[in-house]
Amino acid sequence: MSSSRLPGFYKLKMAERLRRLAEQIEGDLDGLGVMGSLPLANADAMIENAIGVLGLPVGLGLNFQINGEDVLIPMAVEEPSVIAAVSLAAKIARDGGGFRVEADEPRMIGQVQITELSNPELARTQLLHEKDALLAEANALHPQMKARGGGAKDIEVRLLQVGGETHAILHLIVNTQEAMGANLINTMCEGVAPLVERITGGRVRLRILSNLADLRLARASCRIPFEALSDFGFSGAEVAHGIAEASLFADADPYRACTHNKGVMNGVDAVALATGNDWRAIEAGAHAFAARNGRYEPLTRWWVQDGALHGSIELPIQVGTVGGAVKANPLIPVLLRTMGNPGAQRLAGIMAAVGLAQNMAALRALGTVGIQKGHMALHARNIAVSAGAKDGAVEVVARALIAAGEIKLHRAQEILAKMIAHGPSAEVQ
Ligand code: MEV
Repeated sequence: MSSSRLPGFYKLKMAERLRRLAEQIEGDLDGLGVMGSLPLANADAMIENAIGVLGLPVGLGLNFQINGEDVLIPMAVEEPSVIAAVSLAAKIARDGGGFRVEADEPRMIGQVQITELSNPELARTQLLHEKDALLAEANALHPQMKARGGGAKDIEVRLLQVGGETHAILHLIVNTQEAMGANLINTMCEGVAPLVERITGGRVRLRILSNLADLRLARASCRIPFEALSDFGFSGAEVAHGIAEASLFADADPYRACTHNKGVMNGVDAVALATGNDWRAIEAGAHAFAARNGRYEPLTRWWVQDGALHGSIELPIQVGTVGGAVKANPLIPVLLRTMGNPGAQRLAGIMAAVGLAQNMAALRALGTVGIQKGHMALHARNIAVSAGAKDGAVEVVARALIAAGEIKLHRAQEILAKMIAHGPSAEVQ
């Protein structure tokens, strides 16, 4: 396993970064460092009315140690601070042994809604009685999945009041193995519907997976000694208490919990995008899960105990490493290889660790000096690029913007114009 510690990586030119990365992982890096790596023909086949491809930076989250192994984390994201912040948090967490992660088997729920029932209770009993026939009907639609040990495994039936009527909601519980599973489950739900109608005498309406994938949870935790946390002129204990207090605030207030979770999802979504996964499904599942107790709650918890900061996260992560978008975009297999080709379950665990680290990075800054200081440095680089700065000039213009205390496009353009006219030493005047 290659090291995820690549000191000074951020200072290298992109071509040098790719060389370093090629040394770290086996196989070529086809498509990385190339513009427009999703061919137009693929884009055209992926969606209706395609007119182009939208670029997004892909970077590496560094320093991650997960269950004792180093992992490089590809992340696709437009927000400047996300990768820098998560890499720093992962570096700090290494001092406590990194992250422990685990993920449930990839079991998803498909819903079949049964309406117009004269006796819903009886319908429930009949469905449960015909469980084997229902599972066989579902699995007949995907025999290969069943042969590989996956497929429809169980059913549940819930009775639900919907607009004054009692509906039976059949849950088909499907092990999707390496797939996210949406297509598989939807096919199964539609496939069993005629049998469900015959069994119950009711009328089937909706047949679709549930993105509240609460049978498919991923968890991560870490323990960080105080010494690893001291920064910004604060002691490690002060930083740790700042993070723990921020966690309590999120526990107490949905307005804060929402932003807290947004920070978690900054990391989780970036990995979802880089691995060709459906980030909207993961978002929907995460927020529904956060509200499972009847009020919206944070997905992470942080507390101080025995001279260390402890953190944990639990959330549904519905991801695959095969199918759909993974196949359509030739860059995705390269990025998955960068991570050591994890299976779906391991990928879910890694994403939970990324979410926890991303949250720690935000709370560490928020509980001390605030986030704007770090954000502004990265924002300045963006503005420098927008003003037309290239290569080494980006950093020079960004530093000058920060020194001027005015991170504005017009200021960056002035600085760049001076640099072009008089050389790099002119930038700070
Ligand atoms: C910004 O994208 C994310 C944060 O707002 C998260 C948080 O407040 O915890 C910094």
